[in-house]
Amino acid sequence: MTDTEPLLQVRNLETQFHTDEGIVRAVDGVSFDVYPGETVCIVGESGSGKTVTIESITRILQMPPGEIVGGEVIFDGIDLTTASEKEIRRIRGDRISHVFQNPQGSLNPVYTVGAQIREAIQANRDVGKKAAREQAIELLDEVGIPEAGARIDDYPHEFSGGMRQRVVIAIALAGEPDLLLADEPTTALDVTIEAQIIDLLLRLQEERDMAIVFVTHDLGVVAEIADRVVVMYASKVMEQGHVHEIFDRPAHPYTRALLDCLPGPDGVTPIEGTLPNPLDHPDGCRFAARCEYAIEPCFVGEHPSLLPADGDEDHLVSCLLYRDGHDESVIDREPRRADPFAVGDDT
Ligand SMILES: Nc1ncnc2c1ncn2[C@@H]1O[C@H](COP(=O)(O)OP(=O)(O)OP(=O)(O)O)[C@@H](O)[C@H]1O
Ligand code: SF4
Ligand SMILES: [Mg+2]
Repeated sequence: MTDTEPLLQVRNLETQFHTDEGIVRAVDGVSFDVYPGETVCIVGESGSGKTVTIESITRILQMPPGEIVGGEVIFDGIDLTTASEKEIRRIRGDRISHVFQNPQGSLNPVYTVGAQIREAIQANRDVGKKAAREQAIELLDEVGIPEAGARIDDYPHEFSGGMRQRVVIAIALAGEPDLLLADEPTTALDVTIEAQIIDLLLRLQEERDMAIVFVTHDLGVVAEIADRVVVMYASKVMEQGHVHEIFDRPAHPYTRALLDCLPGPDGVTPIEGTLPNPLDHPDGCRFAARCEYAIEPCFVGEHPSLLPADGDEDHLVSCLLYRDGHDESVIDREPRRADPFAVGDDT
């Protein structure tokens, strides 16, 4: 994976909201890469900054109140944070597409699905109405809408939720993007339909050699689809690495706590406590107040920077316990509650 150049490089991205209460630091120095054809999953609790990260990439974020105040988003050599409106409009839809959580909100109820797919095709390619209609039928067929030729003139309300999400995916594919940004695209769907949509995305990805950034808080989905995982908490990346590293050798106490939340024989164990207020992040490690392993230095200074876990450049972790010269006995000591480290105890 790392032999090729990244398709997307997010570097120290900082996005804020100006509110009456003050400045919300929603994304605070986030960095990760996406390579061609791979699936990167962004996971983290509600409010950790996943959506704002995704919406900052193509600047679809509402600005104001949002503002990208720092960092770079390099796509194909262009920094999207400073690209002109014309440049970014060309890239959106054509090179990078979005699929959102709620298909209802992504479709216009007063136009037929065919008209909406055609519009997306014609926005990206110089084709006439008739050819665009034929391509729209092909796309509907490709995303698994039965009798696509007959359904193309239906309105969104005539489709079920799962079928509407397929239509949204067809629209997202119309420009033949290199990168699909999917923000919880299956959360509003029931489990069976969710599985079908995920299968569909994986099939399309393989056929089209398309990279996907998939935002979810469902670790079961992550295990199924991710090549690499970015774990976010309180507007920062806590850990990132290959999916097997994250599941088999999770380094960060937050990742371990998240994995602990997976339903097991004793039910789901939620992580105690809540995320810090993004209006006023605490000093030190952002996870310290909830961390089983916190030591005194965790509560002062800056949040720990991302560094290789155990010397592995592809597996990064932001935790003081992994600093050079750390006290090994601290990592190895028993946590205050049940042992989340058991997840990775096969080394
Ligand atoms: N328009 C806005 N104005 C002020 N704060 C905002 C705005 N949009 C998002 N935020 C804040 O930014 C932070 C990150 O939000 P974001 O929507 O990215 O979280 P998320 O990880 O996607 O959560 P979820 O899993 O619930 O979708 C949150 O604290 C949120 O309240
Ligand atoms: S830096 Fe300290 S508080 Fe933060 S995750 Fe590591 S051990 Fe826990
Ligand atoms: Mg979100």
